[in-house]
Amino acid sequence: MAVTHAESRKAKATAKSAQDAIALLKNDHREVEGWFEEFENTNSGPKKQKLANQICLALRVHTQIEEEIFYPACREAGIDDDMMDEADVEHASAEKLIAEIESGKPGDDHWDAKVKVLSEMIKHHVKEEEQRDGMFAKAKKADLDLEELGAQMAQRKAALMKRKGG
Ligand SMILES: [Fe+2]
Ligand SMILES: [Fe+2]
Repeated sequence: MAVTHAESRKAKATAKSAQDAIALLKNDHREVEGWFEEFENTNSGPKKQKLANQICLALRVHTQIEEEIFYPACREAGIDDDMMDEADVEHASAEKLIAEIESGKPGDDHWDAKVKVLSEMIKHHVKEEEQRDGMFAKAKKADLDLEELGAQMAQRKAALMKRKGG
C-alpha cells in the first residue's frame, strides 16, 4: 500500500523524537539513580521492596540491552577492549548482587546493605560510561549510527520489560 505524505511525515517525526542510544541509556541511569535516592530516604519496608523491585528489573533490562546491542557495537567501532572488558565485569558483579537482593526482602540480614552497595557499584559504572573520555564520549566520536542503535535498544527494552515485568 502506498504511504501517504502525511504518514511519511509522521514516521519521520517519530523517528526524530526517538532517543539516540546515548540519550536512552543516560535516561535509564537517571531513573535508577532517582529510585536509589528514594530508597535511601525511606524507612518503610513495603516501599523499599517496591523500589528494589523497580531497580533490579530496570538494571537487568538496561545491562542486557547494553550487552546485546550497545557494547558489541562499541567494540566493533574500535573502542578499547580494556574499557569494554571492565564494563562487562562490572555488569557481572552487579548481576550477582541483584540476584541476592531479589531473593531476599526488607528486614533480612544485610539486605539494605546490599542495595546500598549496588547503588555504589552502579554509580561507579555509570561514571565510567558517562565521564569525559568515557565509553559514551568515545561512542560519540566513533563511527556509530546512534539513532539506529537507539531504536533497536528501545524496541528490545520494551519487549524485555513486558517479559520480565509481567
Ligand atoms: Fe549503562
Ligand atoms: Fe553498563
